[in-house]
Amino acid sequence: MIPMALNNDDKAFLKDVVWGLKQNQKQLACKYFYNERGSKLFDAICLLEEYYPTRTETALLKTYGKEIASYIGPEVCLIEYGCGSLVKTRILIDALERPCLFIPIDISEEHLLRASQNLASQYHELEILPHVADFTKPMVLPKQARYKNIKCVGFFPGSTIGNFSPSEAIKFLKGMAKTIGQGGGLLIGVDMKKDEKILVQAYDDNSGVTASFNLNLIERINQELGGNFDVSAFKHKANYNNIKGRIELFLVSLKKQTVRIQNFEFSFEKNETIHTENSYKYHINEFISLAERAGFFTIKTWVDEKNLFSLHYLKTGA
Ligand code: AVI
Repeated sequence: MIPMALNNDDKAFLKDVVWGLKQNQKQLACKYFYNERGSKLFDAICLLEEYYPTRTETALLKTYGKEIASYIGPEVCLIEYGCGSLVKTRILIDALERPCLFIPIDISEEHLLRASQNLASQYHELEILPHVADFTKPMVLPKQARYKNIKCVGFFPGSTIGNFSPSEAIKFLKGMAKTIGQGGGLLIGVDMKKDEKILVQAYDDNSGVTASFNLNLIERINQELGGNFDVSAFKHKANYNNIKGRIELFLVSLKKQTVRIQNFEFSFEKNETIHTENSYKYHINEFISLAERAGFFTIKTWVDEKNLFSLHYLKTGA
């Protein structure tokens, strides 16, 4: 087989894949779920009956929007970490008092510009400064945000913080605190610990959308890196790790097999797994103390009546 020619992004992807598949517990980073098909599948997950986080967080924003806005205060610069469909952002912007600047940050330039233009066509008063960056890395905000001397408030919905380990989450929140600056705020959505059955169903839905989302990762390796995974020889698995307080996703090899990617070969035993994602869940107090270790103090927490999902408004040091 002649190896495929790879661009720099593909080379970095290949390096991560090869490293992950060489580990004793094979693993692939969940950030690679989100190619075009993966992003569409994730949007479909958000609409599933079993996947409660999206609709619960959206309802919290709608119910408590005005109260949240009163904590945030008027004329702020809103910074969104990772820009999805911006549905939740619109609810927040509508509730805020005269927000003056909105900085959505995303690694995908095309997606970011499309979403920002769409928003700009409806919010003529709001200055929108899309910023292409990997938000998990330290960053410098566009100069307008730095020179205007306005309060910065981060918005990080969706419980994406749960896809970081607690120590990575602290490191990431510390970076956010630095970007937002002293006296700034952060509105963050965090999924909560709950009945294990509800959690597992949310990640192993009846219609198999999450299974397709998980399996798409190896399909992506085939398409972009010239791998030869037999996707039908793997199945999706989700379980709740009670000790670590996290949902874990795996791809399980249905037979003994060998997979080739470029010049590399990886062998799989029957039932051997690739660990593809962790999604940590937090009790309110666990998250408050994690945030504290990152330099944030909690001003107010909102929770739905079924105790499924929490929204926290945090502030950086005075
Ligand atoms: C993006 N992230 C918060 C989702 C989660 O719930 O951990 C990703 C996801 N994986 C499977 N379903 C949803």
